[in-house]
Amino acid sequence: VFSSVSTLPDDPILSLTGKFLADPRDCKVNLGVGMYLDENGVTPVLDVVREAEEAIALSHRPHTYIPQTGLPLYDRLVQELLFGKDSEVVTSKRACTVQSLGGTGALKLGCDLMYWACGLRVGAASVPTWGNHNDILERSGYTVAAYRYYDAGTHGLNFEAMCEDLKKLPAKTLVILHACCHNPTGYDLDANQWSEIIDICKHCQLVPFLDLAYQGFKAGLEEDSLAVRLFADSGLDFLVASSFSKSFNLYSERIGALTVVTHSENEALRVASHLKCCARANYSNPAAFGGRIVERVLSDPDKFAHWEKELAGMRNRILAMRQALADEMRAIGAKRDFSFVTEQAGMFSFTGLTPEQVDRLSSEFGIYAVRNGRICVCGLNRKNVAYVARSFAAVL
Ligand code: LMR
Repeated sequence: VFSSVSTLPDDPILSLTGKFLADPRDCKVNLGVGMYLDENGVTPVLDVVREAEEAIALSHRPHTYIPQTGLPLYDRLVQELLFGKDSEVVTSKRACTVQSLGGTGALKLGCDLMYWACGLRVGAASVPTWGNHNDILERSGYTVAAYRYYDAGTHGLNFEAMCEDLKKLPAKTLVILHACCHNPTGYDLDANQWSEIIDICKHCQLVPFLDLAYQGFKAGLEEDSLAVRLFADSGLDFLVASSFSKSFNLYSERIGALTVVTHSENEALRVASHLKCCARANYSNPAAFGGRIVERVLSDPDKFAHWEKELAGMRNRILAMRQALADEMRAIGAKRDFSFVTEQAGMFSFTGLTPEQVDRLSSEFGIYAVRNGRICVCGLNRKNVAYVARSFAAVL
């Protein structure tokens, strides 16, 4: 039965970690996967996470199943974080939230829900996008469409093209939108641009699916939920995939959430019944540990404040590294002005490096980045940024 099975290529992002680890050179730098690293090149365990881990271990709670939709308190706290504690969406109960296996799991649940419960058949993502968006859509049965987003010539957002392409999509297209810290480009929409997108979604009857994997990495928790809150005020039905992988450094715990915003509590309850079936047929019910950690922090004002501080520390280090890279490139008189790096938000920068230049970076300099030219800025630190800048200048 397996004789005709072909070998598929490795994932272009995840496979970089293995290549980096296998590289014996001391000078090597991992600018591949979107994972926070500190000045010493390690992913720290946040103080708030360490405290929660210890408390949870000491509680010796039995490992019983948790509900298919996840820990109820966790689900409520996710909504409060997305929309604000006193927001109408939360108090009216017209949204339902399901604990998911990371942000990826939330995207998959949302795609399955809209396919099976609402009959959607076309899904669209930006060009470029996080490659898994298109794979998840395709493997969930959708015909995959695309809308332009980035202008390589100007190193920026091509908002006009984005609007033009969205308007051409058929009604009931599931449109994946990066709510902040666009992956891979790092360019986001402003409030006015989001309002225009909301109008297009209304007018063309598109179904928005906001991917919010990096809340807190642009400007702050509230600031980064701007798009989500504008959609909440718009009266549109929409979905949000959110994640604590990045904001809590809880990558391996696979802790995220799918939130579906409907018109009424009754609708939300019906949607939740479908989500339970989607979860049941895929993995039955989620794991508890990551949810308990996040729940403990979000439900306690002091722990929450401490987390916000730790998150700000990560965000500010990334901002400093953006500036350092741009400064180093300028100082060595590189052919290309890299100041655009300081205008992008989140973990990633779209450098404009070609696949061939990226290949040279890994083979000649031990620097690993995604072949589309995306670098994860978190891999930079005070010790390696000058080396990275020199290597970039060399391949340019
Ligand atoms: C990334 O884009 O590097 C992260 O979201 C990790 C992943 O799963 O690709």
